[in-house]
Amino acid sequence: MNILGIETSCDETAAAVVLDGIEVRANTVSSQIEDHAVYGGVVPELAAREHLRNIDYVVDNALNDSGLSIVDIDGVAVTAYPGLVPALLVGVSYARGVAAAGALPLAGINHFLAHVYSGFIHHPILLEDASLYPLVALVISGGHTVIVLIEKEGDAFILGGTLDDAAGEAFDKASRILDLGYPGGPVIEETARGGDEDYVKFPRGLTGESGKPVAEKDRFNFSFSGLKTSLLYKVKDRDPSEEERRNLAASYQRAIVEVLRKKTFAAAEQYEAPTIMLCGGVASNRRLQEEFEAASEKSGNRLIIPPPWLCTDNAVMVAGLGYHYIRYAKEPDIAIEVGARLGSSLGALPFTPEAEGRSGLLTRNDMSGWQ
Ligand code: KG4
Ligand code: ZN
Repeated sequence: MNILGIETSCDETAAAVVLDGIEVRANTVSSQIEDHAVYGGVVPELAAREHLRNIDYVVDNALNDSGLSIVDIDGVAVTAYPGLVPALLVGVSYARGVAAAGALPLAGINHFLAHVYSGFIHHPILLEDASLYPLVALVISGGHTVIVLIEKEGDAFILGGTLDDAAGEAFDKASRILDLGYPGGPVIEETARGGDEDYVKFPRGLTGESGKPVAEKDRFNFSFSGLKTSLLYKVKDRDPSEEERRNLAASYQRAIVEVLRKKTFAAAEQYEAPTIMLCGGVASNRRLQEEFEAASEKSGNRLIIPPPWLCTDNAVMVAGLGYHYIRYAKEPDIAIEVGARLGSSLGALPFTPEAEGRSGLLTRNDMSGWQ
């Protein structure tokens, strides 16, 4: 089955064609980063306007690259939530049009789950080998920092998530504080290169390092707002030198990476998960990858990190996940409601070795208020 995927949840207009959930036939991403950089972050209405301007070209481009025409497409998958609503509406309306014109099934995709699925595209053995489960996935993007436990039957549990800023947001805000530009992740990573990671001992929220014990319910939760405030105070009313910026970026990055590593490996240990997966834009950070590589060598976990083009927003993960819904679909339209929030239930994860379409994403923590 050839699925056309469309993604417009944030500042990337993307389209892809994926065969049978894993084989990438085309992948087009048009980034709006330069349009938003002058504002220091993504402006939803501007994003929607740019998606509208780009989407025809991006979809045409993906179809051309795939060597297929619309009559060879078996279904359309589009990111429906969570994301910026005006931006999502462009992709969803367009996908509706394509599906209606071609009388094709249409699936509304959960962007968060699509990020999780990117690890399965990169490592398709996960679709078949039940011995690799349970699996701990750390989803780290601009909007999310969540640890998910996935069992071979497709049951998935949110073990914890951020109570305030997401990891990507923490990078973006630091970059803004240090006047380094947008998006923050890659810039902080670059600036931190060669810097002194011990220059400042930034707070590691909800790890107990401050002497304050961590409540059981927060064991796998995150908090990055104290870190950001701490950086803000360090540079308040002054202009740090280039060297100091390098050291601050390195220390700040180290704090984020360390918290992510500790909590993820603690979750894998507690739930006896042989496999750890990183996904979402922040997973493309090399410093983070090195930290996880070293830790998994010690612990014996199998570590799965998709390549950067699959970590940041793309439509391959949308088309890939869409296949698993569309092939079993009884209705032509699946979950196409647009929404800003993830919510606490993600529906079924129909792609694990023994899923049989019966599972749902459950919350093991009371996490009201997290995103
Ligand atoms: O997954 P993604 O492309 O979009 C969302 O769904 O949010 O993630 C974007 C986030 C941004 O906050 C960006 O700063 C961060 O991922 N990011 C990085 C790196 N590349 C992107 N963070 C740290 N290091 C990177 N190399
Ligand atoms: Zn994303």
